[in-house]
Amino acid sequence: MTKVTVVGAGNVGATCANVLAHKDVVNEVVLLDIKGDMARGKALDSWQQAPIDYYSTRLVGTEDYKETAGSDVVVITAGIPRKPGMSRDDLIATNAKIVNMVASSIKEHSDNPIIIVVSNPLDVMTYAAFKAAGLDRSRVFGMAGILDTARYRAFLATELNVSPKDIQAVLMGGHGDTMVPLPRYTTVSGIPVLEMIDKEKLQAIVDRTKMGGGELVKLMGTSAWYAPGAAAAQMVETIVRDEQRIFPCCAKLNGEYGLNDLFLGVPVKLGKNGIEEVIELELNEDEKALLSTSADHVRSVMGVYDSMDI
Ligand code: NAI
Ligand code: 2OP
Repeated sequence: MTKVTVVGAGNVGATCANVLAHKDVVNEVVLLDIKGDMARGKALDSWQQAPIDYYSTRLVGTEDYKETAGSDVVVITAGIPRKPGMSRDDLIATNAKIVNMVASSIKEHSDNPIIIVVSNPLDVMTYAAFKAAGLDRSRVFGMAGILDTARYRAFLATELNVSPKDIQAVLMGGHGDTMVPLPRYTTVSGIPVLEMIDKEKLQAIVDRTKMGGGELVKLMGTSAWYAPGAAAAQMVETIVRDEQRIFPCCAKLNGEYGLNDLFLGVPVKLGKNGIEEVIELELNEDEKALLSTSADHVRSVMGVYDSMDI
């Protein structure tokens, strides 16, 4: 019996629950929101899709943490999204309290869950959940890198007129404008991307990726949900199927990349124990400098969180 809770039944949370149900890899998904009827309605709607799309995953909506008892994996999407003109960091005042409360409430009803944080500002909300839940660092991490690399891969697929399936990429750093896409580690069916695209075009794609979240906020008046929800569901699938897949995720660093006590996007191996391994890539001097800038930025926002009275 595998049970997953998704906290926040808004755009990202409801999408994550629905995509996860379609994968048919867990027995039950509990969708929890302070708006209990909204969670119940979306869970019921998704369950009524099961006879059409052929899945068996049960969906339950609630506002009551008792229903989350015994969860194996929990995805936290609760909190406000940004509006045009806002940065992810502007959300900290509201979301820090929410994520702290959610992680504590989850821990009251599930002994040793794996927690995947989605709420923004992502790296610092992962830190907040880690502190509140008191779990091992391998069990509390954040979703951003899969989304950011997906954007990068989608832009490259359009430019090269190839299937996005064939583009492999890794990206590091914080989930913000300082993120570090790594063209040296990007391939198209094993062919280095640098052999397929000129440098200026690639740089334009890297720059568009960094601002990829903002591009969607401008278009829609709120932040994205299809790709973010699917990215979180992919992490859950990898964990419950113990696939040992490698993805960029926000992880607590204990000396890797020369960084300590910092939550930052790095490639990790995911399996049934959560983060099974942090992968250390050989970065060149330029890449190290970009990662260092990103790390400094995340550390400064972690400082804002530490100075808050939560
Ligand atoms: P949304 O506004 O559609 O949904 C958020 C939901 O959280 C609402 O239904 C709200 O009622 C609920 N909520 C608020 N406080 C709660 C609490 N204390 N307990 C339970 N539920 C609570 O927002 P959306 O678009 O789903 O985004 C959610 C979060 O995810 C935002 O912070 C957004 O910035 C972030 N995000 C992160 C991404 C990433 O790559 N890490 C990508 C996209 C969004
Ligand atoms: C995104 O990148 C806002 O973090 C959210 O779409």
